Amino acid sequence: MTERSCLSIVLAAGEGTRMKSDRSKVLHEVAGLPMVAHVVRAAAAAGSDRVALVVGRDAETVEAVATPHTANVTTYLQKERLGTAHAVLAAQEAIEEPADDILVLFGDTPLVRPDDLAAARMALSEGAAVAVMGFYTENPFGYGRLIEEDGQLVDIREEKDASFLEKQIQFCNGGLMAIAGEHALELLRGIGNDNAKGEYYLTDIVALARAEGYEVVAREIAFESVLGINNRVELAEAEAIWQRRTRHRMMVDGVTLMQPASVHFSWDTAIGQDTLVEPNVVFGPAVSIGRSVTIRAFSHIEGATVADSAEIGPFARLRPGAELADKAKVGNFCEVKKSRIGEGAKVNHLTYIGDAEIGARSNIGAGTVTCNYDGYAKHRTTIGEDVFVGTHTSLVAPVTIGPGAYVATGSVLTEDVPGDALAIARGRQVNKDGRGKILRERLQAQKQQKS
Ligand code: UD1
Ligand code: CA
Repeated sequence: MTERSCLSIVLAAGEGTRMKSDRSKVLHEVAGLPMVAHVVRAAAAAGSDRVALVVGRDAETVEAVATPHTANVTTYLQKERLGTAHAVLAAQEAIEEPADDILVLFGDTPLVRPDDLAAARMALSEGAAVAVMGFYTENPFGYGRLIEEDGQLVDIREEKDASFLEKQIQFCNGGLMAIAGEHALELLRGIGNDNAKGEYYLTDIVALARAEGYEVVAREIAFESVLGINNRVELAEAEAIWQRRTRHRMMVDGVTLMQPASVHFSWDTAIGQDTLVEPNVVFGPAVSIGRSVTIRAFSHIEGATVADSAEIGPFARLRPGAELADKAKVGNFCEVKKSRIGEGAKVNHLTYIGDAEIGARSNIGAGTVTCNYDGYAKHRTTIGEDVFVGTHTSLVAPVTIGPGAYVATGSVLTEDVPGDALAIARGRQVNKDGRGKILRERLQAQKQQKS
């Protein structure tokens, strides 16, 4: 995109009653990110330097979820819900500051893509005063119909105001619009509410711009891009489309998905080339996976950073703050939280590692548990390089094991272990000759007495 400045106005003041929720509709999440944040990200990616959010409730929360995704967000409250043009004018202050392009987007269309917005802006840069993004559908009921004459967009007719013939039109307003900044205020202020709903329709801008002799165009985009979410069924549909798109992108980018439809991604999941993901893996937010990693079936990963050639699962759980260095291994039924597993270190079976640091090449035996919590505070476990922790060890934190140390199986470690030492922290074994037999005979006799 050229040096044209751009203001995006995101309409999000709708009641959202069909969501049946205590939260504003646009705060509901797709791929773990509120819908409105998806829209704001698309706006930023398409070169918006300012974003105006028009909200009816939850203004602070909506602004807070949008802010991390673009530098310049301002929220405007639309006190009464008098229509889409009225909503746009709630951001009048923002419109008064000069911008070449103004994009109007809906906060409940989370699948809108930067390319769609760029196409709308392109139409303005080619001379249009208004560009409307439309889609074709066999079920146009409820949408504004795009009225064209000689291939030119001349008006938009809302369902309730449409004649029988107009209702047959299948080219519909997607709700995404671009308006030349220099004409925006003049056109928006000209919009009245003399229609079937008594609302200020943004769509009237088309006929008004025409009457002024400005160029108005309609461009086609995919229906998906402007899919509006009104209830939780549609929210699930949007999620499904988002997941499908993302699986496709991951595979194109060099990630092998053994059974793509069974893998769930978050909006920010990052995975390097040549990584293999087996079936039924869930990626929660804030996961970054390196190259050539193997993630086996049924693993659940969130807030984790995994370096190249590591191996995870099957049935592994990486929780926030889990960090795996190159070639580290976290195997079946292991949970790792807020811990760093060093290069080539192995945590392979039935183990909990929390608030710990495990040095390179160390091996943590099956069933080892970091006892990191005393009911009040969390404590750290520090394990050096080349340490061998025997099976079924309890590491009562805070505790430190020096490099090269060896911890005997079944130990309950409550004290630090110096480097290269052998720590044995368990009861000694005692064998009493013949006593097993005596015990068995006594138990048998007791049983016979009872029956
Ligand atoms: C609107 C369009 C219609 C288009 C359809 C696409 C108008 C008049 N109609 O109809 O041509 O086919 O979207 O989905 O623009 N909003 C506010 N404040 C208001 C009114 C609406 O913030 O006072 C917001 C809503 O939260 C929503 C968006 O604007 O995000 C669209 O409003 P909605 O009432 O859903 O418009 P539609 O009747 O669906
Ligand atoms: Ca709608």
